[in-house]
Amino acid sequence: MADEHDVKSSTKREAPPDPSRRRFLKGVGIAGAGAALADHLAQTAEAEAKIAEAEAAKLPTAATLNLTLDVNGRRRNVSVEPRTTLLSTLRNHLEPAVTGPKLVCDVGTCGACTVLLDGKPVYSCLVLAADAVGKKVTTVEGLGTPQSPNAVQSAFVEQDALMCGFCTPGFVTTISAYLKKNPNPSLAEVREACKGNFCRCGTYPRVFEAALAAAKKAVNREP
Ligand code: FES
Ligand code: FES
Repeated sequence: MADEHDVKSSTKREAPPDPSRRRFLKGVGIAGAGAALADHLAQTAEAEAKIAEAEAAKLPTAATLNLTLDVNGRRRNVSVEPRTTLLSTLRNHLEPAVTGPKLVCDVGTCGACTVLLDGKPVYSCLVLAADAVGKKVTTVEGLGTPQSPNAVQSAFVEQDALMCGFCTPGFVTTISAYLKKNPNPSLAEVREACKGNFCRCGTYPRVFEAALAAAKKAVNREP
């Protein structure tokens, strides 16, 4: 009996379970494999990025459009990709840039990017630059200058119709175009005309007051 007990004891002593060590070694193995895989993926991604970069470097000449736009009465030559929006072209590709139209939502919901295309307000983030060729593009800069603002621009200053000012070029452009169509609007009509423009600062009452004040200055007689 004593021998049997000794055998069992010695068997246990000879092969003691060592879960923590095994777990550690397994962990090292998995972590090592994971690291190797991560290295491999990183190298692959890097190689693919280099190939894409090299291919892209060859593409621009084939994929670039050379356009001439009429912006605020000036002919502006620009090279852009076919997918480039009018807003991006004005702000990022013209030199000097035209930054009155603002990039806010970029999906046609806020009106900050409003410009006039042949006199009609459009969201320039939804118009391709290529589609503006042959049309007159008017931005807020083209409506007046600091020395000679149009009636709406003056009224916005006089009525203090802005807070952060990000929405302001869009409102000024929209209202300037609207007052040419309807030089003597009611408050309700002004509100309706501005429904495509969003002011996150909530300056609407002053904006509408400015529009009505500008109407009194007969903006429709301005060029
Ligand atoms: S940026 Fe174009 S509608 Fe908002
Ligand atoms: S003044 Fe700030 S968004 Fe209109």
